[in-house]
Amino acid sequence: MAAILIVDDDPNLRQSFEKLLLAEGHAVRTACSGEAGVEAVRQAAPDLVVMDVRMPGMSGLAAFKAMREIRPGLSAVIMTAFGTTDTAIEATRLGAFDYILKPFEIPDILKIIEEALAAGRMSRDKVAVGVAVGAAQEDQGDALLGASPAMQEIYKAIGRVAPTEALVLIRGDSGTGKELVARAVYQYSPRASQPFVVINCVAIPDTLLESELFGYEKGAFTGASHRRVGKIEQANRGTVFLDEIGDMPINVQAKILRLLQEKQIERLGGSATIGVDVRIIAATNRNLEEAVAQGRFREDLYYRLKVVTLTLPPLRERGEDAALLAEAFLSRYCREMGMDNPGLSAEGRALILSLPWPGNVRELSNAVQKALIFSRGGPLTSEDIAQAAGIGGPGLHSFSAENGHGTAEESLRDWVRQTLFAPGADRLYETLTDQAGAAIIREALTFTQGNRSRAAKLLGISRPTLIAKIEKYGLKIETQVS
Ligand SMILES: Nc1ncnc2c1ncn2[C@@H]1O[C@H](COP(=O)(O)OP(=O)(O)OP(=O)(O)O)[C@@H](O)[C@H]1O
Ligand SMILES: [Mg+2]
Repeated sequence: MAAILIVDDDPNLRQSFEKLLLAEGHAVRTACSGEAGVEAVRQAAPDLVVMDVRMPGMSGLAAFKAMREIRPGLSAVIMTAFGTTDTAIEATRLGAFDYILKPFEIPDILKIIEEALAAGRMSRDKVAVGVAVGAAQEDQGDALLGASPAMQEIYKAIGRVAPTEALVLIRGDSGTGKELVARAVYQYSPRASQPFVVINCVAIPDTLLESELFGYEKGAFTGASHRRVGKIEQANRGTVFLDEIGDMPINVQAKILRLLQEKQIERLGGSATIGVDVRIIAATNRNLEEAVAQGRFREDLYYRLKVVTLTLPPLRERGEDAALLAEAFLSRYCREMGMDNPGLSAEGRALILSLPWPGNVRELSNAVQKALIFSRGGPLTSEDIAQAAGIGGPGLHSFSAENGHGTAEESLRDWVRQTLFAPGADRLYETLTDQAGAAIIREALTFTQGNRSRAAKLLGISRPTLIAKIEKYGLKIETQVS
């Protein structure tokens, strides 16, 4: 849940927006003018402002400037019409997260709002490094946990590189904490009060990545009806996190190299060079050496990237950290779900230490959460853990046998629950037929009493993905804002 302020002179838009965002579980305030918006920001800090550009009286841009003076880190999504995109670009250069052209579709604006909120959390929520577990449990923010010598080395390295301007490459298998480390490097850097812009090179289709990163001029390609500022320009004076850089297409790599060497970019279809001052942090789980040998990764970029490398060890090489992390996740999930902590049995702990955890910390975290959700009271047993980790497979613990033979709906529900337990369930939904996908999502939402964040966690998908699926399967009807 986030606090969102909507500033627009159109009462219909304010009202439909308010309804929409309330339904998403956010706390919403509205203001009918730039002046009223500034006043609202003075009274209480919202997590995000969603604001129109053109309003009678104070313009959206002037209002955003005034708001940033009151609250320097404040993030905004600017709504703009065709004629006023230059103002919106100006706003993004001033630190607004992004802008959207009116009229827009609901899923598009919801996606931008979720991204802006996630970006806000990433730059705001401090990642504590190398703290004692007890202290981390009290803390609301994220913490890099682990007492193993391998992790101690990582903490020291973060401390050494963060204050510098150095390009940092973070390597490690999937789920080892690369993103957490990137955030820690940013937060302990002198640029901590400036933007932190995350670009996931895998999540964005190859054809769009270049324009996402570098922006474009009007007419640069079919459909480029207006100028758009790219993420790198938006991050000016801040930090850009290029996640999964090993998957970056080779033509984009050339442009990144130029950015590193000359601190300049060009928008697509433009001829002007634009100077930008950004620090780059990159991460990958790919074997870059192999990618270079195969001609998929530029050798010159590779040499530049690898100068300062932090390599995160797999979880199985971190001594007793797996047990320490499991205890910490257990207490966090209990707190989040308002449950008493059942604790971890000695056999449960021993099993955690003996499993290989190929998905590393993320897999452990998911397993602890599932074990907790499906456990039937009492300290988590090795069976709870085994089942949640997908060992023994579904059927080990048959819900239908327990419940007797019920209706078709009940057996579907049982099947869904077992499916959620299945190895690789996190990715399973992608391959399911729409009918089964809809059933799984409906069941997850019932299970979490309609709480989408928890349902998304349960399914191992992001909240925006869940929302997109809810839309796709028509599990909810929404009004459209224009
Ligand atoms: N040392 C740690 N202490 C506490 N939590 C951690 C630690 N390492 C990772 N996590 C948690 O595990 C999950 C995965 O971490 P993260 O997303 O940083 O991994 P990653 O290396 O970027 O994975 P991928 O390659 O799949 O993107 C996150 O929820 C993160 O908060
Ligand atoms: Mg990652």
